[in-house]
Amino acid sequence: MDLKLASGRPAEFECDALVLIETEGGRRAELSAAFGDLYESGEISGKTLEFTLLYVSGGFAARRVLVAGAGKAEKIDPAGIQKIFGAAVRHLKDKGVKSVGIVLDGAASGPAFVEAAARGILAGPWEPDALKTPKPGAKAIGSATIVVEQITDELQAAFEKGRVIGEAVNLTRDIAVEPPNTLTPLAMAERARAVAEAEGLSFEVLDRDRMAQLGMGALLGVAQGSLQPPVMIVMKYTPAGGGTSSDHLGLIGKAVTFDTGGISIKPSDGMEKMKYDMCGGAAVIGAMQAIARLKPSVAVTGVIPSVENMPGANAQRPSDIVKSYAGKTIEVLNTDAEGRLILVDAIEYAKRDLGCTHLVNAATLTGAIVVALGFISSGVFTNNDEFLARFMEASKAATEKMWHMPLDDDYSEQLKCVYADIQNISGGRWGGACTAAAFLKEFVGDTPWVHIDCAGTAWIDDAKPHLAKGPVGIPLATFVNLALNWK
Ligand code: BES
Ligand code: MN
Ligand code: ZN
Repeated sequence: MDLKLASGRPAEFECDALVLIETEGGRRAELSAAFGDLYESGEISGKTLEFTLLYVSGGFAARRVLVAGAGKAEKIDPAGIQKIFGAAVRHLKDKGVKSVGIVLDGAASGPAFVEAAARGILAGPWEPDALKTPKPGAKAIGSATIVVEQITDELQAAFEKGRVIGEAVNLTRDIAVEPPNTLTPLAMAERARAVAEAEGLSFEVLDRDRMAQLGMGALLGVAQGSLQPPVMIVMKYTPAGGGTSSDHLGLIGKAVTFDTGGISIKPSDGMEKMKYDMCGGAAVIGAMQAIARLKPSVAVTGVIPSVENMPGANAQRPSDIVKSYAGKTIEVLNTDAEGRLILVDAIEYAKRDLGCTHLVNAATLTGAIVVALGFISSGVFTNNDEFLARFMEASKAATEKMWHMPLDDDYSEQLKCVYADIQNISGGRWGGACTAAAFLKEFVGDTPWVHIDCAGTAWIDDAKPHLAKGPVGIPLATFVNLALNWK
């Protein structure tokens, strides 16, 4: 879908359908005369996500006006606007509407709203149906235009940012939704390569031989149960003139293209969802596309360790001891705790070989974070509260919900091991998200680091008014904001 920004009087904007927001208790002047009855009957109440589609004759250049309820005027915020316009565009799908005008005015004016609207409008119509045979005659919305009173430089920049993030989010979703029989680790590398070549990022893939040479035993142990060769994907953005600081941000994304659990095999019920175990990696690929386009002043490298976790004849066993790239030996007590194993080799590579000074990783790491936080917020863990504060600010502006989880040395106690330097799970079952984070922390050292456990938030099992079922593209926007806000 083509997305534009235009200025002018909404009533004069030519399109098939014009979207206007209405607040609770509000009554728009341009609708009041012709549609007073609808207000009086309560059909237009302004309640959040209430949609009323009107066919108008006169008063508007558009033939249809969609009145979108936005709730109480004083509660309107960018996150809400992102949802409302996403839902509005979804509402207009399959109704023969080819062009849409979306009006931002009143309480929903300003750059943050334009950015959020652009993201919502692009995310709304996306469907996880790339592999469905198209229905003949199906008509998609071809173009959407955000209509504001006046275009300033600030609004234009916010619009571009929202558009770039929205497009990158949909790229992430396209990659994430691809089934595991075609989205193998090698295919993941090809998706990343295509982005890197199109955007002028430097690109490198470490194959199994190279990783063996380097000694990435933790990642390779996970990969050995599968016929699919593993990869470590590296995508690098360098700011013009080297940037304004010597900092180097590393974004690491878990990309297990399918997680059966390995020999510690998962129950078959719901196992199909483990095709989404590469959502962290897909978000890093999308973030690198957006970063290449928005050009922050800090160097950013995306690192994506990608494997398939299978119980093949050569699969690793519970009690195997592997040697990580960092040199620590790890007893693998549960082969289903594989994400942390591939991540620690990526973390060491990012620090030692790529020179990253700050690290953020995103991983669908534990079922336990879903127990703790449900499907609403991702859990975040850190070894550096100052870096976390910057991260949280970026996530807030990105409208991606994050919740700070505890991570102190007491959690590491449970990983002490008799046979190796560390074991990959703790003895007990409680607090599993914290145990996983504590395992990663043992490999991070002093490098400022934030770990995002997005097992409950990377995809949705049921469609919402503003989003189709499937991957949602988090925490891409947080990654991008963190890089753009760098000082
Ligand atoms: N990929 C899973 C975590 C997961 C669970 C993601 C549910 C999304 C939804 C991860 O590799 C895993 O299997 N974790 C285990 C760890 C356990 C063996 C310590 C888990 O959470 O059960
Ligand atoms: Mn697992
Ligand atoms: Zn996993």
